Amino acid sequence: MTEQIAILDFGAQYTQVIARRVRESNVYCTILKYDTPAREIARLAPRGLVLSGGPSSVYAEDAPLPDKEIFSLDIPVLGICYGIQILATYMGGKVEPGQKREYGKGRLEIKDPSCPLFVTLPAKMQVWNSHGDKLTKMPPGFKTVAVTENSDYAAIEHRSKRFFGLQFHPEVVHTPRGAEIIRNFVHHICGCGSDWTMHNYIDQAVEDIRRQVGSERVILGLSGGVDSSVAAALIHKAIGDQLTCIFVNNGVLRGREAEIVQEVFGRNFKIKLHYENASALFLKRLKGVIDPERKRKIIGRTFIEVFQAATKKVGQAKFLAQGTLYPDVIESVPIAGNPAAMIKSHHNVGGLPKKMRFQLLEPIKCLFKDEVRQLGLELGLPREVVFRQPFPGPGLAVRILGEVTPRRCAILREADSIVVEEMKASGWYQKIWQSFAVLLPVRSVGVMGDERTYDYTIAIRAVESQDGMTADWVKLPYEILEKLSTRITNEVKGVNRVCFDISSKPPATIEWE
Ligand code: XMP
Repeated sequence: MTEQIAILDFGAQYTQVIARRVRESNVYCTILKYDTPAREIARLAPRGLVLSGGPSSVYAEDAPLPDKEIFSLDIPVLGICYGIQILATYMGGKVEPGQKREYGKGRLEIKDPSCPLFVTLPAKMQVWNSHGDKLTKMPPGFKTVAVTENSDYAAIEHRSKRFFGLQFHPEVVHTPRGAEIIRNFVHHICGCGSDWTMHNYIDQAVEDIRRQVGSERVILGLSGGVDSSVAAALIHKAIGDQLTCIFVNNGVLRGREAEIVQEVFGRNFKIKLHYENASALFLKRLKGVIDPERKRKIIGRTFIEVFQAATKKVGQAKFLAQGTLYPDVIESVPIAGNPAAMIKSHHNVGGLPKKMRFQLLEPIKCLFKDEVRQLGLELGLPREVVFRQPFPGPGLAVRILGEVTPRRCAILREADSIVVEEMKASGWYQKIWQSFAVLLPVRSVGVMGDERTYDYTIAIRAVESQDGMTADWVKLPYEILEKLSTRITNEVKGVNRVCFDISSKPPATIEWE
């Protein structure tokens, strides 16, 4: 069994970040619901347990509480934020509402440098707090190992039991040395090795895929995005020609998208690829449609229809492979007041209908996005595919405001290719979440040479984001904006004006629609 750390999720916004920090320490990490029974945890035999933060107060009526037996499993425990309060309360300490909510930067002073969490760290360092309640009486057998201005119990330990608690958040970037604290927990306290690497993962995954699939055939819908591309490359490595990929051209793809997929997967990887060009059908159905939700529905439904027909053409298969990722399978904690739980992705196209009688093959469903990218590189996928920015399923249809016509698609495609090209050339493309062009349906007057023009406007959108839920607009240098504007108005016929979108999300969204 893979050596692992388990996190009990009490509904914190940052639980997945803790998991990523553990995995960056080359140790596998699973996220479990806060009330997972201790015997189930024992079955997984984790080398250590992390109690995450959470939005509640331990004394709230509906506070999420763990099975108390988890403290008798004889494994190290690290309580973070709400987790330290849980740990302290169950161990007989006292937690009370703080005088003031401690939020933001704090200065940690380590009192006992022999504490294995801090052995590699300086005596003082910056940490990030975000909590209301605080520990006011130490549980028996515990002692303080670090303090902040506002807390005498910023870090506590019961060394022989191997129980540790942190009042601050070691996982966030505002605790600059926090990743090291987590690394110390998993290696020095839990005794984990460093076996979790994408290089090692390939062998394990290949074996698992072969075992699951046997001699059956697998179909995979390739979108050209990172997840389905990496899943395809991995499955192909495991079962070669038993895999057939289907790529549907829905008429609202970006420039060269169809060519790149055929080049990379068909020609380089020699994966069996069925290319279904259904552009005409999609565009016919989108004719005259203005409402973005209707566009989405039409594209979603037509995709299923075309994909189903294509699966018949390529022949019977038992498995349908999908590039599902770990954040999609973690059971979210429905805790009131947890904003992360409430703004879950609202528009992810619901996948294929259940009546398609396939068994699912989801070989990357335990991975985070950054791991998937790493895996893609290990598998030899080009950087162009691995470091692609996210692209919405309904494609350019949600970036052409108003009616989607072949001419508008062509204009947007050309403008967008210029944006992508310049963002890549300047090194900005990989640094940010998304950068793209949007076509506005209004036309305005301009002059070109001696002629009066009456043409479209292109808006440029560039945003930074962790997960698409919130976003900041990127302060691109004027030189890049100037170049984009000049190139788009010079090279794209039908455009005489370029704007730069300076709205963040909220209140705007990333796509314009
Ligand atoms: P919004 O526009 O809601 O976008 O701020 C957040 C993230 O989701 C992507 N997005 C979509 N992805 N189907 C998708 O698969 C959609 O209909 C869709 N709409 C938005 C968007 O590109 C951004 O990354």
